[in-house]
Amino acid sequence: MALENGEWTGSSSCRFPFWNNRRYPTSGPDGFDKMYLVHFSSEDPQSSMERWAGRVAVVTGASSGIGAAIAAELTKKGLKVVGLARRVERVQELSKSLQSATGKLYAVKCDVSNEPEVLAAFKWVKDNLRGVDVLINNAAVAYDTSLTGGSTEELKKMLDVNVLGLSVCTKQAFQSMKERGVDDGHIIHINSIWGHVPPGEIYAMYCATKHAVTALTEGLRREIIKLKSKIRVTSLSPGLVKTEMPPKEMLESRPALDAEDIADSVLYVLGTPPHVQVGRTFYTQTTASHVIWHWVRPTADLEVVEGV
Ligand SMILES: NC(=O)c1ccc[n+]([C@@H]2O[C@H](COP(=O)([O-])OP(=O)(O)OC[C@H]3O[C@@H](n4cnc5c(N)ncnc54)[C@H](OP(=O)(O)O)[C@@H]3O)[C@@H](O)[C@H]2O)c1
Repeated sequence: MALENGEWTGSSSCRFPFWNNRRYPTSGPDGFDKMYLVHFSSEDPQSSMERWAGRVAVVTGASSGIGAAIAAELTKKGLKVVGLARRVERVQELSKSLQSATGKLYAVKCDVSNEPEVLAAFKWVKDNLRGVDVLINNAAVAYDTSLTGGSTEELKKMLDVNVLGLSVCTKQAFQSMKERGVDDGHIIHINSIWGHVPPGEIYAMYCATKHAVTALTEGLRREIIKLKSKIRVTSLSPGLVKTEMPPKEMLESRPALDAEDIADSVLYVLGTPPHVQVGRTFYTQTTASHVIWHWVRPTADLEVVEGV
């Protein structure tokens, strides 16, 4: 890609053939007059997924929706994927459907809000597959619990799964990478648009847990840099996605993404060269009122250019 007269020309090989040799606007259609644009190498990010073949990814919440889609795509890309969930039989079924894939999906029963179960799951990974190279922190629960009269148990459950569960899995994955000298590992948090905008009158605690994920992403990134590690940290923030999580009436009345769209973004993020760190990425359905906005920082020598 090159910047010509304030516009990017897609002259390098892009994973989306449609965009090759086209001009990209430096401002989005919704009035974003500044976007952070990245000058990638000419290497096709899709093909660089090849470097992950044979490596080990743990996906939490692999029994449905986005987690199942991510687990399936990573397995097709040749990774050894460990899918954690309470409904482990669903992950086993998914694994059976992926028997012709170059990778393998292993189903491990685990409630991420139960620390001993998380430790046992990561021990299983260590004993059977040596350790973790990629962690996808996807498991979450969302209850529309009232702050002024709702169930404390539900409020606590959201914090236990979405915040503490994610943090315990992160710690175990980082330690697994560190003890094996893995310096190109990647930790991806499946966040939400609601992790960046203030909550409205619904789902306030769920929004709070996703805001926590935003803070935890940046905190982890900085802690990892301080430890002089090049393990990458990414937060992916979808808008509405067609899964079992959102209420039916919400899905019927608003534009929504497919779970596979988020899985595709995981492949994209993992496939960027090791010196590129995609920090936060927002995804919405095209007709929703946001543009896709990549916020990217260099880990070493990436050229980041601010558009005009
Ligand atoms: N759908 C959306 O509109 C949307 C939008 C933005 C962000 N997200 C985020 O995307 C992620 C995936 O959500 P989804 O839409 O795919 O929802 P989903 O279809 O309801 O899937 C949630 C997954 O989390 C797992 N899970 C829940 N509690 C768990 C626990 N205690 N231990 C282990 N696994 C647990 C579930 O597995 P078990 O029940 O089998 O344990 C299930 O596999 C979440 O982080 C969510 O916040 C979703």
